[in-house]
Amino acid sequence: MKVLVVGSGGRDHAIAWSFARSDRVDQVYVAHGNAGIGLTATCVNARTIEEIAAFAAAEKIDLTFVGPEKPLSAGIVDLFERRGLAIVGPNLAASRLESSKCDTKLLLRELGVPVPEFEVFSDPDRARDYVRSVGYPVVVKADGLAAGKGSLVCDEVKDAATAIQEIMEARVFGDAGRRVDIEKRLYGRELSFFCFTDGHSIVPMVAAQDYKRELDQDQGKNTGGMGSYSPHPWLTDQLVEIIMRRVAQPVINGLRERHGIVYRGILYLGLMLVDEADGMVPYVLEINIRLGDPEAQVILPRLKTDLVDICEAILSGRLEDFHLDWEPDYRLCLIAVSGRTKSKKGWYKGYPARYKIKVPIVGLDDVDPECLVFHSGTDWDPDGALITTGGRVFGIVARGATLQAAREQAYTEMAKVSFEGMRTRGDIGRD
Ligand SMILES: Nc1ncnc2c1ncn2[C@@H]1O[C@H](COP(=O)(O)OP(=O)(O)O)[C@@H](O)[C@H]1O
Ligand SMILES: [Mg+2]
Repeated sequence: MKVLVVGSGGRDHAIAWSFARSDRVDQVYVAHGNAGIGLTATCVNARTIEEIAAFAAAEKIDLTFVGPEKPLSAGIVDLFERRGLAIVGPNLAASRLESSKCDTKLLLRELGVPVPEFEVFSDPDRARDYVRSVGYPVVVKADGLAAGKGSLVCDEVKDAATAIQEIMEARVFGDAGRRVDIEKRLYGRELSFFCFTDGHSIVPMVAAQDYKRELDQDQGKNTGGMGSYSPHPWLTDQLVEIIMRRVAQPVINGLRERHGIVYRGILYLGLMLVDEADGMVPYVLEINIRLGDPEAQVILPRLKTDLVDICEAILSGRLEDFHLDWEPDYRLCLIAVSGRTKSKKGWYKGYPARYKIKVPIVGLDDVDPECLVFHSGTDWDPDGALITTGGRVFGIVARGATLQAAREQAYTEMAKVSFEGMRTRGDIGRD
């Protein structure tokens, strides 16, 4: 069969790789991909959801899988379904779970799912009054999609006032800041929880630890992700049971029963685990509607079950009793980013601030073929040399019987690769 993956980052490369290993798949296409994805699959230059649907119809694609949130929130699933094309992912109504933090928190409260104390505001003055009145530290979140940058964690009232000003008045995230969700800042252990669902049944995945801050020891700015590993030390069967019972099932059932929304695809719960008198409570910080990046790069290589079989079970509503097989070995992903470089007029600070692009990358061919290399921001220059095109450039995924073995191999292999300004975190997997 022919499979189409929508996306162009490291996560989407891992998804394409996962389909390419299936015995049932003859050809994998990716819209629109990148240089590295082109080594795994056939890249297609289709960018809008219209162009992607037209390609899928013309090429008679049997199954389409969507990596990122943007096409989902633009209604790609509804468009494909209208044209009778098989696609895995939540539809437009379901994608609101990621594209509106405010409506999602209100929904979760209605469903009795644990959420931090919060209020929603569209008036900045009332928002400021609120943060003054509550007397505890808050997190101010832009309502809409802001590429993972729209949540500002505040220590004091004056930080919160600044956050409100930037999001709602200066509109640094554009219309995403028309409303804000202001919530109580919680202290606990943060965990991302991923599952497959057909809208009725839910099958949890293994968990991954990710590293979002740019510098070692979680210092510096937030990034799209600097590394990850799986299995995760905290996710016990008992914890899975609690999260399923208190969060995943009420969300999927509540959407269907109260709102007529059958959620199909991947559900990603961003949780804060807080120990309370009556036990551990999984508070929902946010919901995403897709796999995480770089969590997918370590979760999917551990998946022994054929991803096509899972997709078919999701589409036909047969996920109940579906059993997933996972490899026990550790996988660790180390991301190389575009760091500090000299420019004509001074210095680029480097990702997540401004960085140089079109820098040649050397050494990737020397990486041990036992490792996986998933590309994020790469392209070929006119002479056929591999160059950077983004802040996050590629990741190396190593495998080991222990976390330490996987970590050592990832760092050893990464040392064979270089480009001007290349940087990695030094402490991925050193927990
Ligand atoms: N209520 C909260 N209490 C403490 N930390 C929070 C809270 N909400 C968010 N955060 C922190 O901010 C980060 C980003 O918030 P999140 O809701 O995941 O939005 P986004 O990923 O869109 O930026 C979280 O990963 C978490 O570390
Ligand atoms: Mg998040």
